[in-house]
Amino acid sequence: MIDAQAVFSAVSAAEAVERTRTAFLRHHAGEWVMPAKTYVDAPPHGDFRAMPARGGGVAILKWVTSFPGNPSRGLPVVAGALLVSSAETGELLAILDCGAVTSLRTGAAAAVSAQALARDDAASVGLIGCGVNGGWAARCLAAVGYSEGVCADPRPESADALATELGWRTGTREEAAAQDVVVAVTPGHEPVILVSDLRPGQHLAVLGADAHGKAEVELDAIVRCRLFCDEWEQASKGGELSTGVSAGAIERSQVTDLGAVLAGDAPGRTSAEEITLFDSTGLAIQDLGIALAVLEATPNVPR
Ligand SMILES: NC(=O)c1ccc[n+]([C@@H]2O[C@H](COP(=O)([O-])OP(=O)(O)OC[C@H]3O[C@@H](n4cnc5c(N)ncnc54)[C@H](O)[C@@H]3O)[C@@H](O)[C@H]2O)c1
Repeated sequence: MIDAQAVFSAVSAAEAVERTRTAFLRHHAGEWVMPAKTYVDAPPHGDFRAMPARGGGVAILKWVTSFPGNPSRGLPVVAGALLVSSAETGELLAILDCGAVTSLRTGAAAAVSAQALARDDAASVGLIGCGVNGGWAARCLAAVGYSEGVCADPRPESADALATELGWRTGTREEAAAQDVVVAVTPGHEPVILVSDLRPGQHLAVLGADAHGKAEVELDAIVRCRLFCDEWEQASKGGELSTGVSAGAIERSQVTDLGAVLAGDAPGRTSAEEITLFDSTGLAIQDLGIALAVLEATPNVPR
């Protein structure tokens, strides 16, 4: 059993970014495989997801929640366990705290997307939603060199604590949405990036809408962006883009998988003026990347 503290001790934010980039590349190359995640609704409280993947000699299954009302009960939105088994013998090797793995790989995806798609001169981050996973997005962006940021959250204590930790500042939603890289990690109940916020050359990384019916960006704003996602099958059914896909406003040909950009098989940003949007729904291969890093750093785990 590897608890949250041990996971965070084993993998730094900077290493999480590298492991997450590797995961996107291995998946794009067909070396790491995963079926789309399966949702089990638990209305009106939230949902469970089962997320399997195989690669690097192991297979994983993450059983994880999104219960958006949990913070008011003093409980995390995201919780569960991640099983790691040998892909050679099927033996169960380890059980990892899944909240910690999720935070590292979710935050890291925002940073990988910014490194690949933001303008070379992008310097500032606006973070909308400074909870658990927003915090790790900020830490991962800081770890890859973003030293200026604006933290916005209706809970001022969350924004204050994060801004103090990273040497960023707090601000309004509008201020955060005006930065070079804008990251949204809210529960996805209402749009937090509006068409009126858009500025030429921005990069948007939207991570909060990870199930159908959630949205953080106005549809009119989405269709003005050059679109990228973590994986089309998953993102088109249960992510920021899925409402637009259902409405016929977004087609497959308009959306590029991030792994293809990282591998050099598809273009990323094509001009300094265009606005890029990365829709993260969270992939099991990202969890696999972090789980492998944890196993490598943990003594006495059989491989
Ligand atoms: N894409 C992924 O891989 C991935 C991974 C984990 C979680 N998520 C999703 O991210 C979302 C957030 O998860 P979390 O664990 O960080 O939750 P959390 O409750 O810890 O954080 C959410 C934060 O958003 C803030 N918020 C709420 N409404 C807001 C608004 N209108 N403007 C600005 N901030 C607002 C809340 O005050 C809170 O601080 C959930 O929807 C979750 O399902 C996505």
